[in-house]
Amino acid sequence: MTAIDIDLYSDTQSKPTPDMRKAMAEAEVGDEQQGTDPTVTRLCEMTAELLGKKAAVFLPSGTMCNQISVAVHCRAGDEIIADRTAHIVNTEGGGLAVFAGAMSRVVDGNRGIYNGDQLRAAVRRARRHTPKPRMAVVEQTSNSAGGTVWPLEAVREVAAVAREKDLILHMDGARLLNAVVETGVSARDFAEPFDTLWLDLSKGLGCPIGAVLAGDEDFIEQAWQWKQRMGGAMRQAGIVAAAGVYALEHNVDRMGEDHENARYFAELLGNVPGIAVEDGVATNMVFFSVEGTDLTAEAFRDRLIDAAGIRIGANDLYRMRAVTHLDIKRADIERAAAAVRDLARSQLA
Ligand SMILES: Cc1ncc(COP(=O)(O)O)c(C=O)c1O
Repeated sequence: MTAIDIDLYSDTQSKPTPDMRKAMAEAEVGDEQQGTDPTVTRLCEMTAELLGKKAAVFLPSGTMCNQISVAVHCRAGDEIIADRTAHIVNTEGGGLAVFAGAMSRVVDGNRGIYNGDQLRAAVRRARRHTPKPRMAVVEQTSNSAGGTVWPLEAVREVAAVAREKDLILHMDGARLLNAVVETGVSARDFAEPFDTLWLDLSKGLGCPIGAVLAGDEDFIEQAWQWKQRMGGAMRQAGIVAAAGVYALEHNVDRMGEDHENARYFAELLGNVPGIAVEDGVATNMVFFSVEGTDLTAEAFRDRLIDAAGIRIGANDLYRMRAVTHLDIKRADIERAAAAVRDLARSQLA
């Protein structure tokens, strides 16, 4: 198999930097499960402060943050409303049904962003016959809908309807900090209307593992019980939490470079025959179709790896997703764009 030299498959592919590894190696540790690991405590306090919430808990992954939130908020038969493209609905192994017995009702948002009227329309009239609407989910930024940012006004509009309809409002904030860097709106302002939300450390922030879930004290206490129950309570977890502390201190503002690189990549692909770039690169993701080359996305991905050691994700039959991150430099973008162009040209020759 050809070695992958430039990996645009996802922002999860970045490797911890030497400075991050040093912070990890030197971390003060204790017993996380007993609440005595000082580095985990620090990471949770930093995140709660950043998001303006009372408390936070460190978890191994974003999926566990979403699923624990659902398990705390929902009972069997409850309904969760989210955009049709939402990760919590499509890419978490049906966890909604497994851990909470909950079901989903999806809304056709505009590139992942639905509005107040759509949320209102999705909330069923209370009847014995219908599932109970319980929770609305906002994915910031929206992943498979395009890396799009929910503007603050859109968040507030949906939050007002959630309050009116007595719904819990939860943010899948896997890439909230990309939205913060892109818009200049603070994480605290974005977080304010949400009952619960979380940040992923292993995406744009460049950590190897981890996510932090925040909410009020009672919610976090219940989340801790699920963490324990699922086997997510850890011991000297400060080793990994130290990467999170390091990332919150050093890797947030630099994500602006990832966004610039994504826009540059889209620009370079703009006039490549057979390639159709989706409009509006909002953050660190570029989606494009390879249908015009007569290759499927999977075939295009495989040929690109074989020819140039460059990996771009196959998202759908013809749709591809390139994601920029900490390990992608401007020169990598130029090489990747040239490789896509060469492959497309050779197909059309
Ligand atoms: C929007 C979104 N939510 C949740 C997750 C799950 O995060 P993790 O991979 O840390 O479980 C992802 C991961 O790609 C994601 O993109």
